[in-house]
Amino acid sequence: MTRIAVLISGGGSNMVALVRAMQSGGWAEPVLVLANDPDAGGLQKARAMGVQTAVVDHRAFKGDRGAFEKALGDTLATAKPDILCLAGFMRVLTADFVTKWEGRMLNIHPSLLPKYKGLHTHLRALEAGDLQHGCTVHEVTPELDDGPILGQAMLDVAPDDTPETLAARVLPLEHTLYPRVLERFVAGEKTLLSLRNVNVD
Ligand code: GRF
Repeated sequence: MTRIAVLISGGGSNMVALVRAMQSGGWAEPVLVLANDPDAGGLQKARAMGVQTAVVDHRAFKGDRGAFEKALGDTLATAKPDILCLAGFMRVLTADFVTKWEGRMLNIHPSLLPKYKGLHTHLRALEAGDLQHGCTVHEVTPELDDGPILGQAMLDVAPDDTPETLAARVLPLEHTLYPRVLERFVAGEKTLLSLRNVNVD
């Protein structure tokens, strides 16, 4: 069965959605949840779901990205994942690391890429006056938030939306989109999945 490692930095709500989908659907196995922060709330959630966890604290490497990524790679190797899912993982990975996993690493980004790569996506969508917003799952390539798009989920921006309310409305779309894209990706399906007006649970 395809082995999936999920990398997180914080609460891990996307990781929870991915693990739940794999455990209920049986189409892949979550073999590791890896955090770059020992205080990441998602670690406890992963353990509660019976998933192996690990921490590689980036602060221990004092800016030495190469050393941090070597430790990441060594830790991942113990779980032998076939695919990496970045899920709220807030460290930029070097081209060297990404190239090793190219074609086997996904990320979820809270905007309709190619719009708003990088941070503060909800604020930027509001400032631009966008009528639609949402999230994207894409393959990870060396350039940040730039890889082939595998899926998008869209919603209408409300006139009274703030960055906070928009983020709160996009997050459930992420939880719906990411597991469905990963299941398709595991099955070798790379055509775009486009979701609109999703009735989220
Ligand atoms: C989400 O908005 C996700 O799009 C972004 O990080 C935020 C938190 O994700 N990548 P999670 O709850 O830690 O999965």
